[in-house]
Amino acid sequence: MELPTNPDELEARARERLPEPVYHYYAGGAEDERTLAANVEAFRSVFLRPRVLVDVAGVDPSVELFGRRLALPVLLAPTAFQKLADPEGEAATARAAGRVGTVMVASSLSTLPIEAIARAATGPLWLQLYVFRNRALAEALVARAEAAGVEALCLTVTVPVQGNRERDRVHGFGLPEGLTMANFEGAQARFPDAAGSSLEAFIASQFDPSLTWDALAWLRSLTALPVVVKGVQTGEDARLAVEHGAAGVIVSNHGGRQLDGARATLHALPEVAEAVDGRVPVLVDGGVRRGVDVLVARALGARAVLIGRPYLWGLAAAGEAGVEHVLTTFRDEVARALALVGRRNLEEVDRSLLAGAP
Ligand SMILES: Cc1cc2nc3c(=O)[nH]c(=O)nc-3n(C[C@H](O)[C@H](O)[C@H](O)COP(=O)(O)O)c2cc1C
Repeated sequence: MELPTNPDELEARARERLPEPVYHYYAGGAEDERTLAANVEAFRSVFLRPRVLVDVAGVDPSVELFGRRLALPVLLAPTAFQKLADPEGEAATARAAGRVGTVMVASSLSTLPIEAIARAATGPLWLQLYVFRNRALAEALVARAEAAGVEALCLTVTVPVQGNRERDRVHGFGLPEGLTMANFEGAQARFPDAAGSSLEAFIASQFDPSLTWDALAWLRSLTALPVVVKGVQTGEDARLAVEHGAAGVIVSNHGGRQLDGARATLHALPEVAEAVDGRVPVLVDGGVRRGVDVLVARALGARAVLIGRPYLWGLAAAGEAGVEHVLTTFRDEVARALALVGRRNLEEVDRSLLAGAP
């Protein structure tokens, strides 16, 4: 059966194949899900000023990032536990990303170890890090990632404590028998059997809420890999990230899964881009669903975007082919949108594209 290009239809297709608790774990956000909805709504409320009679015969949706040319300005955001969506898990995602020509950011909470994901990857692979109370765990993982050929690290800063995900409690989400946090097998950071959402219990026991900007310096002392900070939402923090040596920043509210009430990332992007002032690349995620959204993010200062749920729906609906389908759909939509707004490439997209501020 052909896969839909409409993101809502693909989500519906995925939902048919997922156990209810897993569907809600993927789809859900924190508390009243205001931020989750705002992320998507922010893009929908922007309208454009297309130019016409521009020669767009050879539009090019590619983008350069850290010296790599990506086929499209859409990266795969880190998402935990991908074997919940497909038996091949993160390996399926890595193969699809490589085939289409973009970056996969593997979550540190993956269901395959980073070495196995790296073996499956044929394109650039980054690793997302959570820093646990036991720092030796992150230290060991960074060394393994470097040895496996990972090209950048992504430090997620949106989880000092876990957001209040009521759907996970209502549906009793937990990792099924047989799935593990494969990067930490044998370490003390095993998934505990706990009442309620076991993810919640895990985060409460292992994540370090006392983490500060010093963690960035510490991480940089461990590795020569570029470290991108994921979860910056203000100009103040963007400046601090750059001052502490971040190689890039990702404007992210964790897809509305952490602080409910955080503003839409699209609305945070302009002040972050202004504070960074071109010193490092700025990326954004949260609510990107169509190629046009990518152009809007670009017009407001993002070099590229990341997607989370859209490719999880592809993975759940059709495994590796589903992720590839989502990526090629984005690539085609970005190219089509460029042609329709009279821009030949992403370099030509600036604020003049937008009809008013978002
Ligand atoms: C099911 C799920 C699991 C996630 N796991 C992680 C994770 O392990 N690490 C992380 O930094 N972000 C994680 N995120 C957040 C994503 O990286 C990304 O910020 C978010 O999904 C972007 O919003 P979108 O889903 O609207 O595209 C997760 C998101 C989802 C939906």
